Amino acid sequence: MDRIQIRGGAKLNGTIQISGAKNAALPLMIASLLTEQTLTLENLPRLADVNQLVRILGNHGVDYSIDGKRRAEEANAGQTAHLTARSIVDTTAPYELVSKMRASFWVIAPLLARMGEARVSLPGGCAIGTRPVDLLLMVLERLGAKVTIDAGYVVATTPNGFIGAEVEFPKVTVGGTHTALMAAATAHGTSVIRNAAREPEVKDLADCLNKMGARIHGAGTSTIEVTGVARLNGARHSVLPDRIEAGTYATAVAMTGGDVLLEGVRPDLLQEALDALTAAGATITSDNSGVRVRRNGAGISAVDVATAPFPGFATDLQAQFMALMTRAKGVSRIKETIFENRFMHVQELARLGAHIKLEGDTAIVEGVKELRGAPVMATDLRASVSLVIAALAAEGETTVNRVYHLDRGFENLEQKLGACGADITRISG
Ligand code: EPZ
Repeated sequence: MDRIQIRGGAKLNGTIQISGAKNAALPLMIASLLTEQTLTLENLPRLADVNQLVRILGNHGVDYSIDGKRRAEEANAGQTAHLTARSIVDTTAPYELVSKMRASFWVIAPLLARMGEARVSLPGGCAIGTRPVDLLLMVLERLGAKVTIDAGYVVATTPNGFIGAEVEFPKVTVGGTHTALMAAATAHGTSVIRNAAREPEVKDLADCLNKMGARIHGAGTSTIEVTGVARLNGARHSVLPDRIEAGTYATAVAMTGGDVLLEGVRPDLLQEALDALTAAGATITSDNSGVRVRRNGAGISAVDVATAPFPGFATDLQAQFMALMTRAKGVSRIKETIFENRFMHVQELARLGAHIKLEGDTAIVEGVKELRGAPVMATDLRASVSLVIAALAAEGETTVNRVYHLDRGFENLEQKLGACGADITRISG
């Protein structure tokens, strides 16, 4: 199993090109099931989760190809992929595949829309909490699906197709909103989705579905109206830049000091995080090419944050921000409101010398003068990258084990950080 070795202390200086967003790419790829024509996705990141989803979609009959090899200087440019679900050959998504990646459960809505039946394994346990799918099933039922659970599988049918309906989520859910959009796009009649997730990745899916012929209004706000159409067509769409990758590198620069241009980022996609980094002592400016993050001289200030659905502080940046706060002057409180158990990084940060106390949904972080390198590992990708951020500012050497978590969601992490001066290497095997 690969490991990453980091010798801390170097400031980060240079340019990092931000990749396409994992959490937009996955639902966009799944949307290819909705049409027999080809969906072309540009700016698709090279990630283990994308490869895993290719396997899952292949099992349902999706043909996948990517445009030819890139030149070396384009190593970080996104790939262009073509996905064609001419015919769906299997409506079952088996446990062996779904259990590896929770988002693959989202195939259920397009399979039902196209085929009128689906048998999809429940996703099972997850390192960041129980993460049920009750709200996704609620949407399917509201739109006319018959749903039963049998031996760990959700078995659903839509004998008369999906029927437009009003759905109000009792809680904001990204996957629930993706599911509602994909079910309502070809439903008979109009659907209204209330308390919808406003995450940019939801808007990106809706934009792509509209290019495929859907009639979706209001995506990006909390009320979305979808007028069902008879069929969807092929389209070409470019995957949104990854706001979480951008926020991660911005936090890394705030941690080490230095001056880095994050190319291709839209600041409005992560304003809350940029505000928190500014309060912590970073200088952030933006122009057409992206967002520039600097921190010179002054130390890191303690800042309190609480995670919230978009446009609030993203839960997917909570671990990284906590890593930064371990070196702040003073005490910060970091509250996690989205997932009930997303503090698995606390113990590992402590191994590097951090002082963190947990009180229910809040981590109380007392900044320390120095972190010290150690062997560490983490159980999910955001937690893993928080350890990388801590290691970049730690004295001596840190080995981050279980690197496959990082490969799920960060494209060319060592190359991107290495090119900005970080002492970081991957050890294979
Ligand atoms: C998406 O997960 C992201 N995953 C997550 O990214 C992200 O942390 C999360 O949204 C919140 O922003 C992808 O886009 C692939 P939710 P999702 O449904 O859709 C509860 C990462 O590191 N809930 O918005 O699964 C749920 O338990 C990750 O890239 C129910 O109770 O998240 C959670 O408390 C991991 N019942 C809350 O809602 C349901 O049926 C929000 O979850 C569904 C969700």
